[in-house]
Amino acid sequence: MNLTDKEKRMLAGECGEAVRQAMEILVAMGGCYGAANMLPVKSVHLLYNVGMIGRGGVGYLQGLAARGAHYAVYADTNPSSIPLRDWREYGISEDIARLQKKMAQTLIDMGAVLTDTCTPYFTGIVPRMGEHLAWNESSAVIYANSVLGARTNREGGPTALASALTALTPAYGYHLSGNRLGNLIIRVTARLDEPHDYGTLGFFTGRIARDRVPVFIGLPPGPSLDALKYLSAALASTGSVTLFHAVGITPEAVTEEMAFGGGGQAGRLDTFKFGEREKVESEFLLSKGSIRDIDFVTIGCPLASPIELQQIAGLLNGKRIKPDVQLWVTTSEATRVIALRMGWIKQIEASGAKVASGMCAGSIYINFLKDQGYRTLVTNSAKMANQAAMGMGLKPAYGSIARCVTAAISGRWV
Ligand code: F3S
Repeated sequence: MNLTDKEKRMLAGECGEAVRQAMEILVAMGGCYGAANMLPVKSVHLLYNVGMIGRGGVGYLQGLAARGAHYAVYADTNPSSIPLRDWREYGISEDIARLQKKMAQTLIDMGAVLTDTCTPYFTGIVPRMGEHLAWNESSAVIYANSVLGARTNREGGPTALASALTALTPAYGYHLSGNRLGNLIIRVTARLDEPHDYGTLGFFTGRIARDRVPVFIGLPPGPSLDALKYLSAALASTGSVTLFHAVGITPEAVTEEMAFGGGGQAGRLDTFKFGEREKVESEFLLSKGSIRDIDFVTIGCPLASPIELQQIAGLLNGKRIKPDVQLWVTTSEATRVIALRMGWIKQIEASGAKVASGMCAGSIYINFLKDQGYRTLVTNSAKMANQAAMGMGLKPAYGSIARCVTAAISGRWV
């Protein structure tokens, strides 16, 4: 790789051991992927989940902090393994809570901003088109690349950390214009009335696309930000998609020619249809068959927006959820503060549901809900339903927010 004089000094250890180690990681990554040089990044989104990094990972970070390591660029955090308050009410162990709090303090010491959200774009962190980033969290990565036109690869915990310590990332993958052109066509003819329908579309497409760049043709104009959030999250969970285009909607696909790069390229690409039949089949797969009695409902994957909290508060107003059913609404702390001011938290909690900020049902640890004795997971998120079936050992049921809330009230999935 061609390194600048400053980058060479960083690699030689002149800026400290933590920066030297970080440069070693980034240079090795760049070497693997044939990067010609490093790029400066504007922000980093960090993995912040002790359920994933464990005691060893926290110990490593503490060692870095003790040696004076400090982030060189704005770095914020994904959801953690505990809610910001009342974590005991969720059945979370002292051990996990203590470890997560240690990690919080360590990241603060190194200069992180604890936003604890996978939807940083709802809390004021909105990268501009063309900006280079190093973000962890696949759903946020796809959203930043596709909806905002920023540029980031799907960073793992260690590479995001290395970028935070250096403010650099190797120039490969989705940082390069040539890798951002669409190479798969999805013609959408199904009705997409509700935001979660976009999650169904993402689930269907991710399984076909794998690591390709799908281009959606035929999406209704003006999808909501929540709809695009669900599309991004589901694409990331069933495939390794990192970027999509939607013709007439996303910034790098104002026209079909922009999306594919012209030259008659589109005519040679695989094309799939997402019609009513594909939508129904995908919904069936996401629900993994028939569930009747349910015990756990979660809304907020990716973390719920203010509009969703308002909707949920309206649906629950004056109602009670079934005593043996849990309903967790997960959101960011920034959004919770808005919802608190608006009275929505009071309405939701009066029903017996919980509003957790800074975590989600998937960020504790993989078997947590099963260990707590739950058997089902009802959700409006295709990503969460897919995770429940794939790794959490729970039977998922999948549908709109209104259907999930109705299930929490009745204890039945209908
Ligand atoms: Fe976010 Fe947790 Fe879903 S991190 S995308 S709410 S699994």
